[in-house]
Amino acid sequence: MSKMNLTLKIWRQASANAPGAMETYPLADVSEHMSFLEMLDVLNEKLIKEGKEPVEFDYDCREGICGTCGLVINGVAHGPRKLTATCQLHMREFKNGDTITIEPWRANAFPVIKDLVVDRTAFDRIVAKGGYVSVNTGSARDANETPIGKEDADKAFDAATCISCGACVAACPNASASLFVSAKVSQYTYLPQGHPERERRVLKMVSQMDDEGFGNCSNHGECEAVCPKGISIQNIAIMRREYVKAALKTGSAIV
Ligand code: SF4
Ligand code: FES
Repeated sequence: MSKMNLTLKIWRQASANAPGAMETYPLADVSEHMSFLEMLDVLNEKLIKEGKEPVEFDYDCREGICGTCGLVINGVAHGPRKLTATCQLHMREFKNGDTITIEPWRANAFPVIKDLVVDRTAFDRIVAKGGYVSVNTGSARDANETPIGKEDADKAFDAATCISCGACVAACPNASASLFVSAKVSQYTYLPQGHPERERRVLKMVSQMDDEGFGNCSNHGECEAVCPKGISIQNIAIMRREYVKAALKTGSAIV
């Protein structure tokens, strides 16, 4: 098993309002089989033993499911491996002697809470505006009661794989949340269950996205490039079409 000696340059920020700075930490004997977050665990054990403050970073599942992890590694949201969340990245992607920079998501709508942890509740507020369908309570309906074509089911499922990690925002030069919001719009646009609330959903979610301070999409495509779930930028076109149709139908102002 080969071991690596690394130099880590990590963003340290004591609190939301404190000034932050990059700090340098050497780390020896890192196994190539460790995950990136395990490597940070080892660093933190070392820092604690030395009586220093450990580095705060977010995670939950460590399986690429929950969307809680998210670091900008060497300038790339989620690091060098395509279609891979930070928690699924392994140290075999790096080599002995490497210097690795580690920063939080950077966007006005995602303020830093501490070190590498940012506040992503803006996403929760957007989802609360329309990232759901309303269903009547009562006994469960038969799964095959509403037939859905395979093509539509596949497109809806692909959009639904968004894990709300925020990498798309971190990678976008405008800090736009368009890929995230478009995934939430698309996942129900393709399904009959989403049609009754279709107009209200897209109008409210786009309005909330603007209120949260995310930027506009200008088709850079960086979002799609870093998305760990491969959410297609085509969803943004679908969101725009849905938005314009809904605004015209309801007489809302198009922003
Ligand atoms: S669209 Fe992709 S990058 Fe953006 S929040 Fe969803 S999973 Fe993360
Ligand atoms: S910790 Fe859950 S997706 Fe990375």
